[in-house]
Formats: sequence, structure tokens, C-alpha cells
Amino acid sequence: MKRLEFRNGDTLDIIGLGTWKSDPGEVGHAVETALDAGYRHIDCAAIYRNEAEVGEALQRVFSRGEIKREDVHITSKLWNNAHLKGDVEPALKKTLSDLKLDYLDLYLIHWPVAFRPGLEGFPESESDFLTPDQAPIGETWGAMLEMRDKGLTRHAGVSNFSTHKLDALAAGGAERPEMNQVELHPYLQQDELLAYCREHGILVTAYSPLGSSDRPETMKGEDEPSLLDNDVIGSIAEKHDATPAQVLIAWAVARDTAVIPKSTNPDHIRKNMDSASLELDSQDLQRIRDLDLHYRYIGGDAFRTDSGLYANIFDD
Ligand code: A2P
Repeated sequence: MKRLEFRNGDTLDIIGLGTWKSDPGEVGHAVETALDAGYRHIDCAAIYRNEAEVGEALQRVFSRGEIKREDVHITSKLWNNAHLKGDVEPALKKTLSDLKLDYLDLYLIHWPVAFRPGLEGFPESESDFLTPDQAPIGETWGAMLEMRDKGLTRHAGVSNFSTHKLDALAAGGAERPEMNQVELHPYLQQDELLAYCREHGILVTAYSPLGSSDRPETMKGEDEPSLLDNDVIGSIAEKHDATPAQVLIAWAVARDTAVIPKSTNPDHIRKNMDSASLELDSQDLQRIRDLDLHYRYIGGDAFRTDSGLYANIFDD
């Protein structure tokens, strides 16, 4: 398994298990299956509302003794309603308590968007948001770095940040995030963002690598293109005697991005891990390069307001 290296030399298995959309009653079993299948990287978030069940599964596995806490990299994310600097530590401690852990390996600011403290669910009106003046992202980031200094997380990073936002974070002289987790797949290749992150020593994780077709219908665009049914991906899969999902995961690995396919299906979980041994050749990579549609499955619609406060989160 390829590993990525943080700036302090710590490493991370490049393939992890995603847990967004993994239903309660299923996610714990998925985590156990994944750890048994060799995964050592689990991606979580408070907003997935399943961290308590993930925590129980981790406990069960660790208590068996073969896999230890320190063998597994666990990521979680700060939700948008806890961006004020005094709210970061309580949010992280709630996540730690749910996951039944003393520390995280990586804590990310989930979105560069702030909600009113205490807001449950998604905003329904303008007053459910905080403006960047009310919740300066630099202060949120400062609090994240404090969490790392306190040992509550080993590494700190962000998610869904554009190059402009990454520049803005660093403008005050602050240390740059160690990770930026963003949507990445053949229809959204984001080469410029990748090059920027590489230049500045920021690792990148690819989310929704398989096209996230299990998200709610209300989040889907009309005539959404399917990644798993793409003919080019299918023919590359056939050539290597692999599955389309394995090709999509191997493509992310070939680009040195961590990748977190979500699955609660034991067969998929194991097959996705087997992508680690699939090597795409230069012809495959060229054919996939030609598939870029600049298409986002996760468009940030929930953050659009009448005033346009967070209208262009992926570009601004
Ligand atoms: P399932 O949980 O039944 O495996 P993403 O990681 O882009 O969010 O995509 C998740 C979706 O992809 C889920 O619907 C998941 O279903 C499905 N999926 C995960 N692994 C595979 C696989 N190996 N083959 C087909 N579909 C998969």
C-alpha cells in the first residue's frame, strides 16, 4: 500500500474507508470489515452523524488486540456550526468522545462556511449563517492548530478549500494546512489545485471518488454523469481484469492523492482495498485525463444565500 508523508514524517495509507452516507446500523460493521480487510485509514466527520457507531466498532476491534489504536489513521471534521474559536475544542472533544478516542490523527475544517453556533441541520435563512467578519476563518484555523499543540489531533487541515482560500489562510504567516480534502475524480480532476497543494506541501485527499451515487436525490443534478458506468473506465477495467471502482481508486492513487471510497458492502470494501495492487499504465492515464468535465457532484448548493454570501465557495 502506497503511503503519503506529512511534513513531520508521519505517514498515511493512501486508501481509506469513507463513512459519509453510511447508515447507522451498517457503518460499524463496515468499519470492522474494512479493518479486517487491511484498511488502516478511516475518514469520519461529525456531520455524518454516525461517529458513535464508528467508535463502538473501533473499540471492538482494538479490544481484540491484533490492531492497535496507533496502527490506524482516523480523520474527522469540524462542522460549520462550530467555527468560532471557542467552539472548536468542544466540537473536537465531542467527536473524540463519540469515536472513543484520546486523539485524532487528522482534524479538518469541513467547509470554508460558517453557520450560526448551535444550528442543527442546514441553514434555512440568511440569519443561519455567520459572515466571514463574524467568524474569521483565520481564527478558526488558529484554533485548529491549538488543538494540534494540545495533542488532541496529530495533524490539522481543511476540506473544500480553493487555492485563494489557502492563500488567505497563509497570508497572516500562519502555518499552512497539512491536508486539503476535496472532490476529485475523472470528471473533476482539479489539476491546478493539485499543483498548488504539491508546491506548498499540502497533501490532498479525494472524496466522492466513485461519484457518490448514493447521496440523496435532492442533492443530485439532472442527468448526472455516472463514473462507474463510463465506457472508458469500463474498458480500462476489462483490460486489467478489474472493476470500474478499482480503476477509479487506482487513478487517485496514481496521482498521489489519498482516496476514501465509501462502502458498507463487504464485497465492495474488500475489492476497493485490492485496488492497491492495480497499476494503470500511461495509456490508461491519458485516456482518463481526457474525461475531465469539470463536473461537481457536490456543488455546495446548501450554502447559497440570496445575498450571495458563500456563492462561489470553490473559486473565491
Ligand atoms: P455500497 O455502499 O453499497 O458499496 P463515493 O465513495 O464516491 O461516495 O461512492 C459511494 C457509492 O459507491 C455508494 O453507493 C457505494 O455503495 C458505491 N460503491 C462503493 N464501492 C463500490 C464498488 N466496488 N462497486 C460498485 N459500487 C461501489
